[in-house]
Amino acid sequence: TQSDPFDLVVFGGTGDLAHRKLLPALYHREPVGHLGEDARIIAVSRRQLSDTEYRDWARKAICEHVAEVDQEALERFLARIQYVAVDVAQNTGWEALEEKLSGREDVVRAFYLSVSPDFFGPICSALGEHDLVTEKSRVTIEKPIGKNGKSAHEVNETIGSVFKEHQIFRIDHYLGKETVQNLMALRFANVLFEPLWNAAHIDHVQITVAETLGVESRAGYYDTAGALRDMVQNHLLQLLCLVAMEPPESMAPDSVRDEKLKVLKALRPMSAEMVERNTVRGQYRAGASAGGAVKGYLEELGRDDSSTETFVAAKVDIENWRWANVPFYLRTGKRLAARVSEITIQFKDLPHSIFLPDAGRIAANKLVIRLQPDEGVKMQVMIKDPGPGSMRLREVPLDMTFAEAFSSRHPDAYERLIMDMIRGNQTLFMRRDEVEAAWKWIDPILEHWSQIKEAPKPYTSGTWGPSASIALIERDGRTWHDETY
Ligand code: BG6
Repeated sequence: TQSDPFDLVVFGGTGDLAHRKLLPALYHREPVGHLGEDARIIAVSRRQLSDTEYRDWARKAICEHVAEVDQEALERFLARIQYVAVDVAQNTGWEALEEKLSGREDVVRAFYLSVSPDFFGPICSALGEHDLVTEKSRVTIEKPIGKNGKSAHEVNETIGSVFKEHQIFRIDHYLGKETVQNLMALRFANVLFEPLWNAAHIDHVQITVAETLGVESRAGYYDTAGALRDMVQNHLLQLLCLVAMEPPESMAPDSVRDEKLKVLKALRPMSAEMVERNTVRGQYRAGASAGGAVKGYLEELGRDDSSTETFVAAKVDIENWRWANVPFYLRTGKRLAARVSEITIQFKDLPHSIFLPDAGRIAANKLVIRLQPDEGVKMQVMIKDPGPGSMRLREVPLDMTFAEAFSSRHPDAYERLIMDMIRGNQTLFMRRDEVEAAWKWIDPILEHWSQIKEAPKPYTSGTWGPSASIALIERDGRTWHDETY
């Protein structure tokens, strides 16, 4: 449906995210008529540009990132865009923004802070001082929200001094991915799974987010973060929450977020001994990836030494009735063997087999929810091999690849998230207490790592990470799911 009129003010308007994600995502809403007639996009950055110069830049960005561009829709979309130069560091240019927004106090005013977190505070303070925050204002911030619990709290305090919680939209783009929302549909729009979704029937859960890319141009930021902060604190824990949470009473933002928060609070805190036993850090070395030779992390960084991890694996326990003794194995890393993000729900073995030994091994059922690259859900079941001979059993997938089931284009996560934000729906955004609870669990791991000062374990680019991550799961008599790669 068409949105109400809005002004979307994008700080960092000439940045990488605007180029790759925000402008293409917004453009996609134009041909389908979702942008209200009176919707405007106001791009803000330090550079001095005219509206025309910025629109030319935006046109290029869209043509580069959108497969099929409808020229008429593109021109209509570009006409919505205006540009204002504001230098946040120098605190200049605010009057021009004030002028641009004035007279539109009654429409949705959405500020998107696609800038370094160092600027969140100064931007929010200036918006407050210049009286730009209206009743219908909201603000969107991207991770990283802090580097630990303490700094996340400070960021939240700063933003919270200008915006109320219902106006703050903290993006975790994984929540905007189609299959992630499908996880909720799968669990709560079917009766099949929920009765089995607990410790009585599930042996363990695996969450893998593997990338083939290295850190490339983001080495500066990445080296101060590492995989635990960059991926686990947000994306992987959010996925874990959606798998593990109790059924919320509705899809209302706080119902869902209350349930996710309970999971985060139930994560078993990692003692120093557990960090050593249940986590693995790795860093990629030169190797081959995506069909070519690639540099190691240190060469990409241009330094001789760095103890930043580009890979993490962890065994995580959730201390509640539903998940008692059901470990969640998480792993994520850069320059791995394949780009694949998936959640594997491994069910328990049969209590008793009625078949003769020569029927073959009976593999436990497995539900694999693939987020990317080819989204879909697969259920591994046992069937009988066809034929008149003796009973032979075979494992086959009940396969639901979404690309085959739906011919329509899969919208990018940002398309949904930006429109949800404009419509004021916070269900897929992280609440303050969730972010802080996630850090509370992450902090002791970071602290212990920094105390023991052990170098991350090297792994060759194009492999599945350090062998210790394989040992982490195999010592429990289990293996990482990988048959479909
Ligand atoms: C970002 C991380 O949040 O997610 C990146 O900062 C990572 O390091 C990216 O590459 C992965 O997102 P996606 O959507 O490509 O899986």
